[in-house]
Amino acid sequence: MVRHFRRDDDISPAEQQQIIDRAIAMKADPYGLTPLAGPKSVALLFDKPSTRTRVSFSVGVAALGGNPLVIQSSESQLGAKESIADTARVLDRMVAAIVWRTFAQSNIDEMAEYSTVPVINSLSDDFHPCQLLADLQTIQEHKGKTAGLTVAFIGDGSSNMANSYLVAGVMAGMHVRVATPTAYPPLAEAHSTAIRISAETGGSVRVTADVAEAAQGADVVVTDTWISMGQEAEKARRTADFAGYAVTADLMSLASPGAIFLHCLPAFRGYEVDADVIDGPQSAVWDAAENRLHAQKALLHFLLTTP
Ligand code: CP
Ligand code: NVA
Repeated sequence: MVRHFRRDDDISPAEQQQIIDRAIAMKADPYGLTPLAGPKSVALLFDKPSTRTRVSFSVGVAALGGNPLVIQSSESQLGAKESIADTARVLDRMVAAIVWRTFAQSNIDEMAEYSTVPVINSLSDDFHPCQLLADLQTIQEHKGKTAGLTVAFIGDGSSNMANSYLVAGVMAGMHVRVATPTAYPPLAEAHSTAIRISAETGGSVRVTADVAEAAQGADVVVTDTWISMGQEAEKARRTADFAGYAVTADLMSLASPGAIFLHCLPAFRGYEVDADVIDGPQSAVWDAAENRLHAQKALLHFLLTTP
């Protein structure tokens, strides 16, 4: 049966750990595994802009022995001109996997329904699961483990990053706190899924409007832009609504003394994070950006080799 990575919980907690461990091993030995030798091709579809995702998947597919095909959707037939189902039926005849950055999560689900090769969500409006693999790898590298640690996500609780932190974080056995204005709650289904999974993994979930409550004693402090791709028209309202939800040095001082700071990037200094935090000694953002490469290589290896 073909395995997809539509969202964080398309893999089990044990598989998540296996992928993170393999990512760390592949970082040390970048060219040792070549599941795409042939070369086989991987389609990288983009409906939204990208720097890290495009580069890390392109470099990663090549390092796995394969051929990356970057396709801007606006320059393809996908969308208004050709259905997702027909696109899946054509691509899967020629490529080993389909990676798609898009808007609606239902787009990813539909591509996966019709594709006979793995479909990977490289960011939708609802989830950013590839980023979470990289973030969890970074946390494991910096803190030696993930289980039992507390992570505080500060900012837009309704974002793809917050939803993915809830689900992937508890899968990794973490205590996930989300501080967000009450008008911006996480996706209800992601929240309830995270609560259900936390009962199995020993993690926990807390959603609050109080940034200090979330940051207090945290091992990892995370934020993301207040204006996600596609929300540009809401910039003024969102900037006002999220005032008070910035990660500042004062907020970091409430966290554990050895806490690290993460941000999926791109970052907007002076808005969701102050420059002295993201450019300061607790920031692990550049490690996390690099780990997109290693984590996605490990993910591709897993999806392509797991029966
Ligand atoms: N973090 C992330 O996904 O970055 P890009 O938008 O540059 O791909
Ligand atoms: N929440 C952000 C993440 C960018 C990588 C967005 O969707 O634009």
